[in-house]
Amino acid sequence: MPRAEDLEMDLENRLIGTGYSREDAGIEQSLRPRTLDEYIGQDKVKENLRVFMQAAKGRGEPLDHVLLHGPPGLGKTTLANIIATEMGGNMRVTSGPAIEKPGDLAALLTNLEYNDVLFIDEIHRLSRAVEEVLYSALEDYALDIILGKGPSARSIRLDLAHFTLIGATTRYGQLSGPLRDRLSVPLKLELYSVADLARIVTRSAGVLGIPIEEDGAAEIASRSRGTPRVANRLLKRVRDFAEVEGSGVITEQLARSALIRLEVDELGLDSLDKRLLSAIIQFYGGGPVGVETLAATLGEESVTIEEVCEPYLLQIGFLNRTPRGRCATRLAYEHLGLPFGEAPGDAQLSMGPS
Ligand code: ADE
Repeated sequence: MPRAEDLEMDLENRLIGTGYSREDAGIEQSLRPRTLDEYIGQDKVKENLRVFMQAAKGRGEPLDHVLLHGPPGLGKTTLANIIATEMGGNMRVTSGPAIEKPGDLAALLTNLEYNDVLFIDEIHRLSRAVEEVLYSALEDYALDIILGKGPSARSIRLDLAHFTLIGATTRYGQLSGPLRDRLSVPLKLELYSVADLARIVTRSAGVLGIPIEEDGAAEIASRSRGTPRVANRLLKRVRDFAEVEGSGVITEQLARSALIRLEVDELGLDSLDKRLLSAIIQFYGGGPVGVETLAATLGEESVTIEEVCEPYLLQIGFLNRTPRGRCATRLAYEHLGLPFGEAPGDAQLSMGPS
């Protein structure tokens, strides 16, 4: 099993990785939209959420429990914060692996007040024992706690305030059925369009006081693989080039040359994406090949491939998922300058993590 710390390190080390670094924590805090009106993109999610929140408010009730799912870096925590603010509650943040024992969950739940939001990131990683305690909390707003052991053990029921759970996951398929059923407001976040990312880059530049031209924002957006976290990270690095080697203003030309220096190609692919596609094409004849085999070939964790590389490669049509494994498409061959449909040539692939 991949360890969460390894994955996080791995993701942090990639400029265009979608993982969350300490630097991102600072930037995201300052750039985070506070209301649904400020939140750019994800129009379907926003429209539905507006209806659900207005209806709950109209009935004078807290919002039902929510499941936010989709690739990393798309703003699940931001959206949870907005929900808490708009519903008028406070938000407590935790994550699946941080809740080790039922007692940890009980401590969190008993401190919640009416209308508060409990945000559990990586909710698919809750242990079975914790998940089972969560069910009655979600359904009945009560906790059944067993005190003592053996014949003298007894159960007490603690009433909880009527709260809203917001669970977030990048792995919808790993969520148990009972938990999925109880999170009755499912919201699926999609990768952002280049146009929405350009608006986000322009907004972030405004917040950070970075002079940027429209074409400069579009250039950064088109290389941000559909992910605001990547866009904001690239914006900061491109700003460094603008200040040291340019006039301080992010123009299209400046952004393009900075991003070439940062080794982010015109579609936002980095060396891991390219090694992945090259491996499928040159070692496995274009596929199908299983993700575990690919991970072993590249010396990477399969979860990195599945969560970071694949969503974007699927979105831009470079990869197909079939029941027998992954296949590279003609577009991927063309992007890498490899002939489509020929027998695999000499593999010129640097092995191991870059
Ligand atoms: N910053 C990061 N994500 C954002 C979004 N969806 N809207 C506005 N600013 C953002």
